[in-house]
Amino acid sequence: MRTQVAIIGGGPSGLLLSQLLHLQGIDTVVLERKTKAYVLSRIRAGVLETGLVAQLHDAGVGARLAEEGIPHDGTVISYNDEQIRIDFAAQAQANVTVYGQTEVTRDLYEAREKLDGQIVYSVEDVQIHDADRDAPYVTYQVAGTGQRLDCDYVAGCDGFHGVSRKTIPDTVRREYEKVYPFGWLGILSETPPVHHELIYASSDAGFALCSMRNEGLSRYYVQCGIDDRPEDWSDEAFWTELRRRIPRAFAETLVTGPSIEKSIAPLRSFVSEPMRWGRLYLCGDAAHIVPPTGAKGLNTAASDVHYLSQALIRAYRDKDDSGLDRYSDTALARVWKAERFSWWMTSLLHHFPGQNAFDLRMQRAEVDFLKSNTHAQAVLAQNYVGLPY
Ligand code: APR
Ligand code: PHB
Repeated sequence: MRTQVAIIGGGPSGLLLSQLLHLQGIDTVVLERKTKAYVLSRIRAGVLETGLVAQLHDAGVGARLAEEGIPHDGTVISYNDEQIRIDFAAQAQANVTVYGQTEVTRDLYEAREKLDGQIVYSVEDVQIHDADRDAPYVTYQVAGTGQRLDCDYVAGCDGFHGVSRKTIPDTVRREYEKVYPFGWLGILSETPPVHHELIYASSDAGFALCSMRNEGLSRYYVQCGIDDRPEDWSDEAFWTELRRRIPRAFAETLVTGPSIEKSIAPLRSFVSEPMRWGRLYLCGDAAHIVPPTGAKGLNTAASDVHYLSQALIRAYRDKDDSGLDRYSDTALARVWKAERFSWWMTSLLHHFPGQNAFDLRMQRAEVDFLKSNTHAQAVLAQNYVGLPY
């Protein structure tokens, strides 16, 4: 089999790239390790920057998003009982849209299938060959049969645990990592959100986040121990801890209910450079990971896809490889800004084991400065709604 761009990974990065290229007449094949049902079973954050919303509309998958997405003009940062509202409209002249990431992926699958996009599910043993030469190819197994896909370019959209990043030789790759000494215990509950905007809560008891999927489906998180397991936390224990960490005014109106999903996510900052090796280009979690505190995972993958899709279109349409040659540097420039913001939000709002009284007062002072300084609020707002592509 032959295609123009072989895309490894059928998550949001791979699907959005495939759709954007298809609409410009560029042929792709997506190789996905799991089944579609498995990919759509993942519960992931749902805060979309304006850049991603625009790309989804450009990709022809903005209809349901426009109907069901919830625009948010601000968010609340709280510290014990103090609340700071960050006004995106006033401070960043933009907003974000709350729309489940699973729904983004569902919409993208639907669009690819409508255009007869080529997606091969349940592939195994994917290997990238000759990425540093002019005729790369990918081999893989499907249903026990070996396959070969010849292509012009390979897009590694296969997430943190994929094969693409590791195809780049150790002697070429530079990796940067910070693993945080705690996790996020998250639940979904069929209850009305405690507030119409997200609440990022820091408190003497630790961090919590109040989010939502829609007006009848809430998503809550509490910072938990690095070795905690979901089964260690009863629903009652979760709700009690959440109430301790959010401002009293919200704790008193919180509507609780049985969790319909409960999971723990580790927190990590990670970047692998470069994001290109020969004709292999990395996108999204294959190249970088952020702690969820800034809601930057999908949104940073989206800017990678923007840069790579534009570069590939220019290469095919204009026989101009300048975008491809600049891709890694261009993408990484925005990636590192997202890493910084996500690290800053995480450092500001979480309790770190071993923090001493001075460390706690530094966090307190940072929050006090944010509360008193509109420029500090503008910096947070502009990073949260998304820096320009
Ligand atoms: N071969 C084929 N597919 C693979 C392989 C492999 N060896 N390894 C992983 N995959 C698939 C996974 O099954 C997954 O569907 O690649 C896909 C990668 O998707 P994500 O991990 O979601 O990464 P990405 O598409 O970059 O998403 C960016 O959105 O999904 C969220 O939180 C996620 O921040 C991330 C963002
Ligand atoms: C979520 O709704 O799951 C969510 C929202 C914002 C974040 C992280 C997760 O920063």
